[in-house]
Amino acid sequence: MVRSAPLIAPSILAADFARLGEEAAAVQQAGADWLHVDVMDGHFVPNITIGPDVVKALRPHVTIPMDVHLMIAPADPYLEAFRNAGADILSVHPEAGPHLNRTLQRIRALGAKAGVVFNPSTDPSVIQWMMEDVDLILVMSINPGFGGQSFMTSQLRKIAALRAMIDATGRDIPLEVDGGVTPQTAKLCVEAGATALVAGTAVFKGGPAAYAANIAALRGA
Ligand code: DX5
Ligand code: ZN
Repeated sequence: MVRSAPLIAPSILAADFARLGEEAAAVQQAGADWLHVDVMDGHFVPNITIGPDVVKALRPHVTIPMDVHLMIAPADPYLEAFRNAGADILSVHPEAGPHLNRTLQRIRALGAKAGVVFNPSTDPSVIQWMMEDVDLILVMSINPGFGGQSFMTSQLRKIAALRAMIDATGRDIPLEVDGGVTPQTAKLCVEAGATALVAGTAVFKGGPAAYAANIAALRGA
């Protein structure tokens, strides 16, 4: 089977936060397809990062889609603020609220793509009866909360299972992987059926002069 190169979504969590706009522009210039933005609330995950105002401030610095990963609970009260700030994709964890389907409907009603994120322990069956309501699937290959963790190979079978579920729909739903993605683990993800890769450490290591080569190394996986 011939697979096309995966989309690369650098996670700004690994950028220099004092120069966030420049960093976002630099990874776009270096070939990034999407900008991945990790939103954490210190409640759903044990870390606090950024909110809608930072997404809004970043928006003029890039033209690529902003892929906003919400690690917050509840997520529903903040969807509109993130959409208004310029998010193109809004992804939520099923554990963040009692009505995943309603949350996805709200995201679409706001005009954004609706994504579902799977923690390492979350079963693919959670979306089995609502595949038509999903625009993106994101598989965590680490426990969410921090960059720089090691890739969990246990999640490769889940990527493959979700690949089969997507193929059965006949729709082209991006299958994204997040956490510990390196050129080595990227290859395993793509072989399992991933079409988009989030990478923080592997993109931002070495500073701006290295971004293009870092992205190319991931895409070539
Ligand atoms: C962690 C975030 C990831 C993180 C990935 O909760 O969702 O996007 O930035 O960082 P690396 O690529 O360093 O594992
Ligand atoms: Zn993320």
